[in-house]
Amino acid sequence: MDLKIKNKVALITGASSGIGASTAKVLAQEGADVILTFKNNLKGAKETEKMVNALGRNSWLYRFDMSNPKSVSFTINQLKKKFEQIDILVLCAGEISIVPFEKLEPKEWNAIINVNLNGTFFVLHSLIPLMANESSIVIVSSVSAHTGSPNQAHYAAAKAGLINLTKSASRALAPRIRVNCVAPGITLTSMGRKTIASLERNYRSEKLLVRNYASSEEIAQLITYVVSPISRFMTGATIDINGGRILR
Ligand SMILES: NC(=O)c1ccc[n+]([C@@H]2O[C@H](COP(=O)([O-])OP(=O)(O)OC[C@H]3O[C@@H](n4cnc5c(N)ncnc54)[C@H](OP(=O)(O)O)[C@@H]3O)[C@@H](O)[C@H]2O)c1
Repeated sequence: MDLKIKNKVALITGASSGIGASTAKVLAQEGADVILTFKNNLKGAKETEKMVNALGRNSWLYRFDMSNPKSVSFTINQLKKKFEQIDILVLCAGEISIVPFEKLEPKEWNAIINVNLNGTFFVLHSLIPLMANESSIVIVSSVSAHTGSPNQAHYAAAKAGLINLTKSASRALAPRIRVNCVAPGITLTSMGRKTIASLERNYRSEKLLVRNYASSEEIAQLITYVVSPISRFMTGATIDINGGRILR
């Protein structure tokens, strides 16, 4: 299948590991050049860069803390000097913390909302002027947006907010830019492994119809399809990829 993204320029947040790094790889395999953004993990970002370059595509590294609007706008001003436009935007960066509901203090609540919900909004909003006509955005939410979570209520609330942000942004930016959301279930990355450690022992065999967790490549392939021009008729949608954790 030709996804029609050859020579397009994609920007991925959270590209230093996990799903973001795999998405960079799949986009590069399909012929896109990729701007890789990250926060702390320079080593991981350089590994992603190497992987992209080995596929014969260009990559550029940029750093920001998306929970800090000044850091986001500083980096996006640098980007605006270098790039005329961006065709594809994957908002994948995120953070979790595992805290039982009764122990969740306002400071921790705010920190996680600030990265996952506010941060995603800051980056999306700041990049609108750089997005090409007929460009496309994917926001990465989570199955916990639908299920809630006793140990990650702050994260689940932020991810539910992203589903709604997808709807608002798709309405506001149509028809120039499409905005969709992908909501993964547990995926074997460093974040996924932290979540798994906090779950009941039989979660995989009792809660997942496919009886297994996702790989980051499987999620990346769906993101790449959704963000590509061949999903032209899709906008404002949230696509589940959660092993049958919920059926809706
Ligand atoms: N893994 C799962 O089970 C799962 C399930 C559902 C949804 N998701 C979602 O999928 C996305 C990717 O998760 P993952 O599993 O690939 O996690 P991961 O391997 O921990 O990667 C998270 C990425 O986000 C970046 N990041 C974190 N805080 C940031 C900040 N303040 N500013 C800028 N970048 C920041 C990290 O950068 P540095 O490391 O460079 O700091 C890293 O590149 C997240 O949105 C996550 O919520 C994951």
